[in-house]
Amino acid sequence: MAKIIAGVSSSHVPAIGAAIDNKQTEEPYWKRVFSGFEKSKEWMAQAKPDVVILIYNDHASAFSVEMVPTFALGCAAEFPPADEGWGPRPVPVVKGHPQLAAHIAQSVILDEFDITVVNKMEVDHGLTVPMNLLFGSPKEWPCPVIPVAVNVVLYPPPTGHRCFMLGRAIRKAVESYPEDLRVVVFGTGGMSHQISGPRAGLINSKFDKAFLDNLTKDPKKLTRIQHLEYMREAGAEGIEMVMWLVMRGALEDKVDEVYRFYTVPASNTAVGHIILEPHRRAAKKSVGKAKKPAGKMKRAAARVKIDRVRS
Ligand SMILES: [Fe+2]
Repeated sequence: MAKIIAGVSSSHVPAIGAAIDNKQTEEPYWKRVFSGFEKSKEWMAQAKPDVVILIYNDHASAFSVEMVPTFALGCAAEFPPADEGWGPRPVPVVKGHPQLAAHIAQSVILDEFDITVVNKMEVDHGLTVPMNLLFGSPKEWPCPVIPVAVNVVLYPPPTGHRCFMLGRAIRKAVESYPEDLRVVVFGTGGMSHQISGPRAGLINSKFDKAFLDNLTKDPKKLTRIQHLEYMREAGAEGIEMVMWLVMRGALEDKVDEVYRFYTVPASNTAVGHIILEPHRRAAKKSVGKAKKPAGKMKRAAARVKIDRVRS
């Protein structure tokens, strides 16, 4: 059976993608950001997922304001990088996993979660930047990716609670897929930022760090945050953080925080990143069914100690 082995969240700041594409990653400003993902890339190289389910939002690249699905599931065989105004990013075409995606579509829709099935879609920085941060810049992405787009650009976006419950439904779908696949779920976007208006440049590190703390310890508390609170505390674009709750909902209640990174600013955005694994004792219980993956994950966790960056 397929299994979710970890959840990863990270900001998907477009300027990070531009820094990679323009070979500026060694410049002091950007090195501060990229150095925070070095351990994450090591962790990912150990984890070696068979499939990534990546929760992100489209930034008017695949969906114009003429039609914006609240939740959209990429079921295609591949997803080319979108032209976001400067030509498509020089990153590999994302290969999908149509079989697992179709299974998730069936499972979540029969579970009364009416997700939009998308059979043709280009993907923008919301998806490609986190892929770079966790996998580097390979010629081909090392595993298939199932994109899940969440509307956080056109009012009204879904609630954090609804996003969390979508994560739950995705987990149920993955765990009922018959093939032995090791799946990592990404939640992307955020953290606090506002890109226009009188409060442009807003960053609220206190809110962000409390969000990271509760993502590990008390995610249900986060599901009660209302849209207005996100806007007030984390800026207009801080609403992207509801997408982290899809990732968290896809994990067990108890998790181990394997790694965390937080720095400000990147462009005008707070960059946050966290890696969560199922609680080890829970993983031990399931060793009988999946000895190898559990052992591998424990070794990976041992290599990457929790690293809280205080800034
Ligand atoms: Fe975004």
